Amino acid sequence: MGRVQDKVVLITGAARGQGRAHALRLAQEGADIIAVDLCAQIDSVRYPLATREDFDETVRQVEKLGRRIVALTADVRDRAAMLAAVAEGVAALGKLDAVIAQAGIAPIGTLADAQPFLDAITVDFNGVVHTVEAALPHLPDGAAIVATGSAAALMPPSDNGRPDFGKLGYSFAKRSVASFVNDLAIALAPRRIRANAVHPTNTNTDMLNNDSMYREFRPDLENPTREDALPAFHVMTAFGLPYVEPGDVAEAVLFLVSDESRYVTGVQLRVDAGAIVRKRPQQPQF
Ligand SMILES: NC(=O)c1ccc[n+]([C@@H]2O[C@H](COP(=O)([O-])OP(=O)(O)OC[C@H]3O[C@@H](n4cnc5c(N)ncnc54)[C@H](O)[C@@H]3O)[C@@H](O)[C@H]2O)c1
Repeated sequence: MGRVQDKVVLITGAARGQGRAHALRLAQEGADIIAVDLCAQIDSVRYPLATREDFDETVRQVEKLGRRIVALTADVRDRAAMLAAVAEGVAALGKLDAVIAQAGIAPIGTLADAQPFLDAITVDFNGVVHTVEAALPHLPDGAAIVATGSAAALMPPSDNGRPDFGKLGYSFAKRSVASFVNDLAIALAPRRIRANAVHPTNTNTDMLNNDSMYREFRPDLENPTREDALPAFHVMTAFGLPYVEPGDVAEAVLFLVSDESRYVTGVQLRVDAGAIVRKRPQQPQF
């Protein structure tokens, strides 16, 4: 028996990165997956988002583990599309036990345009709300909801002295995810549906490994490379690491989806190699 044997789990942003890692780790432990991804570009994002080929690879790897997966293309910003996609996935796999709302963008690097600010909020926050809203009618009592925030949710926004509106929107959205999950846990407690957030620090995915992020960490250089940025990535951990791996976040998500955490709700679980605790050592935050 796996730790999430025969549970059906909805994952947004499952074409690659952390979403794929969650799908594979949960499938290893016996889950079937309803996977959602946009598989298209959003103009304000300065690195390529996932492709249909990426999504196919997630499907291939989950099926290789002997589990079922339904891969649906939908935009988490589109409430109606999410309602339809989740209904289609549940019709195909028969039920829904858990949700991982983690599709996201980091449209940073634009100094004079409000659109990245708004896009970050509509994807990274509204998208989480739409995902929960679409899932809720299908979830039984005792189900699990996990939303992915970020270490950025737990610290004040910083702008390197420049007003990067996409970064501001990302910070606002992630802080809002943390608050939403806190209060969602209260609202769903009568049904013993658990709502928790995971907050990764830098994670080794395409969202981190791109030119706009290298510039973010090395504002002193015109065209920094990954090698230039790597030493600066360390600022986001206390362990002297540049990043955690998607699989490290997947272990936290697996715990929160499994019945091992049946009385854990409203938690803001950091997977950050000490980034946040170092910033506020005297005052534990809950
Ligand atoms: N990588 C990091 O350093 C880091 C750090 C903290 C938090 N996070 C968060 O982790 C989550 C996963 O990101 P990742 O690191 O795997 O990056 P990623 O870019 O590899 O994955 C994000 C996925 O979301 C999908 N997506 C984007 N917009 C969408 C939309 N509107 N509708 C549906 N799907 C959409 C993308 O196509 C992609 O597959 C995000 O919420 C991100 O903000 C990432």
